[in-house]
Amino acid sequence: MEVKTSLLDNMIGVGDMVLLEPLSEDSFLENLRNRFDHNEIYTYIGSVVISMNPYRSLPIYTPDKVEEYRNRNFYELSPHIYALADEAYRSLRDQDKDQCILITGESGAGKTEASKLVMSYVAAVCGKGQEVNKVKEQLLQSNPVLEAFGNAKTVRNDNSSRFGKYMDIEFDFKGDPLGGVISNYLLEKSRVVKQPRGERNFHVFYQLLSGASDDTLKKLKLNRDLSKYNYLSLDSAAVNGLDDAANFRTVRNAMQIVGFMEDEVQSVLELVAAVLKLGNIEFKPESRCNGTDESRIKDKNDLKEMCELLGIEQSVLERAFSYRTVEAKLEKVSTTLNVAQAYYARDALAKNLYSRLFSWLVTRINESIKAQTKSRHKVMGVLDIYGFEIFEDNSFEQFIINYCNEKLQQIFIELTLREEQEEYVREGIEWTNIEYFNNAIICDLIENHQNGILAMLDEECLRPGTVTDETFLDKLNTICAEHQHFESRLSKNSKFLTDHSLPHNCFRIQHYAGKVLYRVEGFVDKNNDLLYRDLSQAMYKATHSLIKQLFPEGNPGKVNLKRPPTAGFQFKASVGTLMRNLQTKNPNYIRCIKPNDKKASHIFTESLVRHQARYLGLMENVRVRRAGYAFRQTYEPCLERYKMLCKRTWPHWRGPAREGVEVLMADLQVPADEFSYGRSKIFIRNPRTLFFLEERRRQCLQDLASLIQKIYRGWKCRSQFLLLKKSQIVVAAWYRRYAQQKKYQKIKSATTVVQSYTRGWQARKLLRELKYQKRCEEAVTTIAAFWHGTQVRREYRKFFRANAGKKIYEFTIQRIMQKYFLGLKSTMPSMSPIDKNWPARPYIFLDGVHTALRRIFHLWRCKKYRSQFTEEKKAVYEEKLEASEIFKDKKALYPSSVSQPFKGDYLEISKNPKYQKLNSAVDEKVLLADVVNKINRANGKGTARIFLLTKKSFVLADQKTGQVKASVPLPDLTSVSVSTQSDGFFALRLKEGSASAIKGDFLLSSEHLIEIITKIHRIGATAADREQLNIDISDEFLVQFKQDKVCVKFIEGAPKNGNSVSCKRKNNRLLEVSVPTSP
Ligand SMILES: Nc1ncnc2c1ncn2[C@@H]1O[C@H](COP(=O)(O)OP(=O)(O)OP(=O)(O)O)[C@@H](O)[C@H]1O
Ligand SMILES: [Mg+2]
Repeated sequence: MEVKTSLLDNMIGVGDMVLLEPLSEDSFLENLRNRFDHNEIYTYIGSVVISMNPYRSLPIYTPDKVEEYRNRNFYELSPHIYALADEAYRSLRDQDKDQCILITGESGAGKTEASKLVMSYVAAVCGKGQEVNKVKEQLLQSNPVLEAFGNAKTVRNDNSSRFGKYMDIEFDFKGDPLGGVISNYLLEKSRVVKQPRGERNFHVFYQLLSGASDDTLKKLKLNRDLSKYNYLSLDSAAVNGLDDAANFRTVRNAMQIVGFMEDEVQSVLELVAAVLKLGNIEFKPESRCNGTDESRIKDKNDLKEMCELLGIEQSVLERAFSYRTVEAKLEKVSTTLNVAQAYYARDALAKNLYSRLFSWLVTRINESIKAQTKSRHKVMGVLDIYGFEIFEDNSFEQFIINYCNEKLQQIFIELTLREEQEEYVREGIEWTNIEYFNNAIICDLIENHQNGILAMLDEECLRPGTVTDETFLDKLNTICAEHQHFESRLSKNSKFLTDHSLPHNCFRIQHYAGKVLYRVEGFVDKNNDLLYRDLSQAMYKATHSLIKQLFPEGNPGKVNLKRPPTAGFQFKASVGTLMRNLQTKNPNYIRCIKPNDKKASHIFTESLVRHQARYLGLMENVRVRRAGYAFRQTYEPCLERYKMLCKRTWPHWRGPAREGVEVLMADLQVPADEFSYGRSKIFIRNPRTLFFLEERRRQCLQDLASLIQKIYRGWKCRSQFLLLKKSQIVVAAWYRRYAQQKKYQKIKSATTVVQSYTRGWQARKLLRELKYQKRCEEAVTTIAAFWHGTQVRREYRKFFRANAGKKIYEFTIQRIMQKYFLGLKSTMPSMSPIDKNWPARPYIFLDGVHTALRRIFHLWRCKKYRSQFTEEKKAVYEEKLEASEIFKDKKALYPSSVSQPFKGDYLEISKNPKYQKLNSAVDEKVLLADVVNKINRANGKGTARIFLLTKKSFVLADQKTGQVKASVPLPDLTSVSVSTQSDGFFALRLKEGSASAIKGDFLLSSEHLIEIITKIHRIGATAADREQLNIDISDEFLVQFKQDKVCVKFIEGAPKNGNSVSCKRKNNRLLEVSVPTSP
């Protein structure tokens, strides 16, 4: 947060003399001393700044200080030269008022330093930028150049400005510097040839000799030794704290920055060297035959070198130093110069050369720093002009300088005191007149056209006849005798006849700053500022371009017989111009005060300060300020400036501005005695009131700034919001469009789907209907066709081949069947009933037929096969069939018997004579005759027997003899038992109680068991009188041996004696037959 300060804060003494209580000269000085002792070197009198020279560097000019004072109210901070500079700069920039800063004070009071501080402050606060910085730099760097050539060490000031300087700095509308114009006033050129004791020539001579390189010095034909030059006083060649060599480099650098070309710098240095050389030219008298004295140059070496430097023919210059040509109308008279005149001519040349060089430098700098644009500029003028001078020995220069100070005082009086009082009267403000000294009368004494001192001096100079300083004084004594500010011993009113402080060759003027005694010696000469035409012509003849430029009057083609204007006249004119210039600007005053004569810090010599305060009229200044009003302003700008402090006047006051201001002041409750209303202006008595207003305004501005900021931010946000809203609408519109588009597309596609389904449905419905319709139509057509067909067939059957299809079908079938049967015929298998072959079936539908045919064919083939059989063979097969029925799968012996034909009569009994007897014993036809083994009941061994079978009985007979052993009628045979195995054992079981059964059952064994049993069984089957014979097939059966029943058991196992069946009697009841395992 910004720290609010005030002029009144931490004040040492009183910061503004207007606030001093009680006000007296003593309290005034005491206040100054008090502040000076506390390093407060600046004090205000209202808006005037009093500056005490501290003679040491204070830490109050830092960049921080610049920032502190920047854009601050004048009364806000403790007094400072920066506050004044800031005020001037801001009113120039913001209120478009041209400004001038008038810095006055004695020599050594700090005017030049103050002017530099003002310039540096303005440079620091104004705009920045490459171009602006260049302009600033050039403006600032013009100072070292002008100081080197125009400043010198005097007894009062080691860096005393020996010329007056007024610099207009030009700004554009933004307050950026554009350039500047420097005006110089009356260089103290007499210093070039002669310096008072303890003083030096202009700095540049010393700087050149100590700072230039050997090479440069050689080129300039100079010697580093100062004592070699007559124009340089030796007693104070070295000045404390002044480094000439370093300054020379600074100056050269500054010249470069300002824009001097290298050859221009060289030319300037050559001229400076020429001046030094000129001083060394000495003359000696030489008597001529006509009795007159002539001068001759003692040593022509310096003349020669100087002529070489400037490119002048030596003889020409030599002659110019010896003769003087006076031209009057058509006459041209040459007179020789005596030694004194020659010296006079030399010095005049030196002074002129130097002063013209100085003027040329100013012109050249102006060329560089002048504003480049032609648009209207705002101007800030800074006037640093020599202060009031009261020396022991005051001459023409002091007279001129003091005249200038009188004029400045005049301006001050005009602009502040008189102007102020007159303004009060004009504005109708009640006002008690303040007595103040108006120095207009002194100005008049000096500058009056008819009887002013300058006018009289000019008159004397132009007057023909003998003119001396004394004749001039006489004239003054006559004409100014009555003037109250003029004093002279011999003045006609003889007031001062007895005043011994007033020498005869002097006159005294009571300046506003005090009385000054002027010695008239040299007044006429200095005013004439005479340079013999021969010399200016000699200079013009020089080949050196710069020197030719400096002496244009030497051009023989432009000989002007009129006398050049006198120095006094020129000065008066330029001071007049300056004053007119200053009057158009807003003045800002810096009153510089020198605290002591010793150039020492911390010393406050009261008498000296009192003197300065008096002649600067500071007390009067304070009194006027206090009696009057510190601030005034016309109503319009005042209302404009402060209208925001009152609701009724803000933002617009409709009505006269004065009324607005009245409302404003009433609203702010400013005490009535603090201000007055003039006719066109408001007068504010106290700066504090103004400060109060300014402070309120500043606060209000802050509030307004906040308001503006608020409105701006609101506007900005609103604009942004509106933009956003607009964008949002656009985005929303686009989005909605997009969404609707999407939705529409969805609906559309859905509709299309629904539509397609509906259409599909409708179409299908329609299709169905159409199909139905079509079918109906077709059906109708078909029915109709059929009906018609029927009708037609019924009617036209006789005309058509009926059932052609069926016939074709049947034909085809027939054909196929035919083909099938024919094929079958050709591929018929053999007639063997056991042939399994049968041709493949050609068509599926013939499957049943094919199988049936195969079966039929087989049956037929079998029948065919059977039909070939004889009755015998048939009987054999019947027997075989019966054997199969009895034994198949029951007895292991069976399969081996199948392939053996049943022979029956293996013994051929009827044919064999051996069995004749046996044959005859048997009545019946022998159905079977074979040899069997009769198993011995006791041991199980077999005995061969012939077995005969007839229809009625079976007979067992001895094989060898044929004797019948047993004959058993078949009806006695009840059953036959056989084993399941492959043996040939069989038991013939007889009917119990029968005659045959006495000996018991027979256990026999035969190879043809199957045949025997089958035949026995067959006989039994065919015999009607008998029961069916039982055939018992098991591996254990009982056999009746006489009384005993023996069990015959068949065991499967390996036979002991080869492959044959063995039978053994195991015990009474068991007969074991061992049967080998069938392979
Ligand atoms: N504000 C200051 N701070 C420090 N030193 C200062 C200040 N003002 C002046 N001085 C010192 O006083 C000396 C003289 O000042 P300056 O040259 O400004 O006097 P002046 O008024 O211009 O004199 P003149 O009329 O002879 O030119 C300076 O060289 C400097 O040493
Ligand atoms: Mg100065």
